[in-house]
Amino acid sequence: MSSSSLAFDDKKLDLPIKDGTIGPKVVDISKLYGATGVFTYDPGFTSTASCESKITYIDGDEGVLLYRGYPIEQLAEHGDFLETCYLLLHGDLPTAKQKDAFVYDVTHHTMVHDQMNRFFQGFRRDAHPMAIMVACVGALSAFYHDSTDISDETQRMVAQIRMIAKMPTLAACAYKYSIGQPFVYPKNELDYTSNFLRMCFAVPCEEYKVNPILSRALDRIFILHADHEQNASTSTVRLAGSSGANPFACIAAGIACLWGPAHGGANEAALKMLAEIGRPENIPKYIAKAKDKNDPFRLMGFGHRVYKNYDPRARIMQKTAHQVLTELGIKDDPLLDVAIELEQIALKDEYFVEKKLYPNVDFYSGITLKAMGFPTSMFTVLFALARTVGWIAQWKEMIEDPSQKIGRPRQLYIGAPRRDYTPVGQRS
Ligand code: SDX
Repeated sequence: MSSSSLAFDDKKLDLPIKDGTIGPKVVDISKLYGATGVFTYDPGFTSTASCESKITYIDGDEGVLLYRGYPIEQLAEHGDFLETCYLLLHGDLPTAKQKDAFVYDVTHHTMVHDQMNRFFQGFRRDAHPMAIMVACVGALSAFYHDSTDISDETQRMVAQIRMIAKMPTLAACAYKYSIGQPFVYPKNELDYTSNFLRMCFAVPCEEYKVNPILSRALDRIFILHADHEQNASTSTVRLAGSSGANPFACIAAGIACLWGPAHGGANEAALKMLAEIGRPENIPKYIAKAKDKNDPFRLMGFGHRVYKNYDPRARIMQKTAHQVLTELGIKDDPLLDVAIELEQIALKDEYFVEKKLYPNVDFYSGITLKAMGFPTSMFTVLFALARTVGWIAQWKEMIEDPSQKIGRPRQLYIGAPRRDYTPVGQRS
């Protein structure tokens, strides 16, 4: 193993360099503090690897995304979401027999404990569905005591299946509750994504027929959102899991983090931004706002911490948006017109070129989901539904790592030096 050396005051330290399969090497600094008494400093972790992982790899400069080595384009084109879940969890694409068994297990865990329904009654109808999801997913640990012992491999496996299986049911309930319609129970003869569409859009008064084009499109959208290395919400799940918290609580923490507009909340924010821009002629004003250092406005759905090239998921999302709009007979969606025009202008603007700001996965997803009938408040819920498998696969990898320990970053203290207490009468 090669090494690098660090000279600090009168100290010199050799730091081992570790190679991965592909991508940047890492300098192992785990012994740094013990040997020199100093910490590294990297707020936002722009240059810091938090773990070793075999699950997902991103080449931000080339716009490459691999799930267990398979390019996202091939999985989106040829695979389906549950097969991708198996791949992320177990490391290889399933054989036909393995896939059938996995699909059977997920299908037969889609119902939630009926008392969960009372949780929803406690919310106002206008509660944001992400607030409901954080609450209900965390509450699952109150119902499924037989799959919260993380030291038991069988219980871990059951918790993984339960999480993947129950997210669509809870997400559909959150949507139904917000529109005052009765909950629709899952139907086992439907595939995962068709089941979710039916739970969202069926009503008791008539049979609901799933549109296979829309179901395939949404299944592909789930594949695109399934995992993405150590992003903010995945890192949250790993950190929560490192304390030994049960998997349901860890996923609830991930949902809470994903909600932010800089992360998974960007799909909802991007559609609101496109609606606010309204018409292509208004684009220059918003481009100027995005470039203005004194204006907090950012182009939502643009830019990425890792991708300094086109997000490969955005390309597939754009194609899917066209397919869905065509299938639904939506000839000219003004939001799509604005999005395409905005993308073309931004990609030629030197500010965006110089800062390598490209559309990300959230730029086109909202247009597609809105066309399918989802309200903007549900967009991040769908992101959380799809990302649950990534979170749980990363949690599984961490828990099964024998060298795993609780995550506990340090800091650079810039506060007051030691000082003595002053009684209130002596304070000015
Ligand atoms: C997701 O990490 C993941 O993998 C996340 C994700 C996943 O699958 O898990 O891919 C999902 O979260 C996608 C990102 C969704 N967020 C948005 O679309 C919100 C808009 N984008 C940004 O706020 C921003 O681009 C981030 C948060 C995504 C990335 O921010 P960074 O890496 O911290 O970069 P930065 O904020 O330091 O920006 C670098 C420069 C800054 O200018 P300077 O200070 O250098 O002058 O670029 C500018 C920023 O002001 N900039 C933007 C911009 N994004 C960055 N300017 C205008 N519009 C933008 N969208």
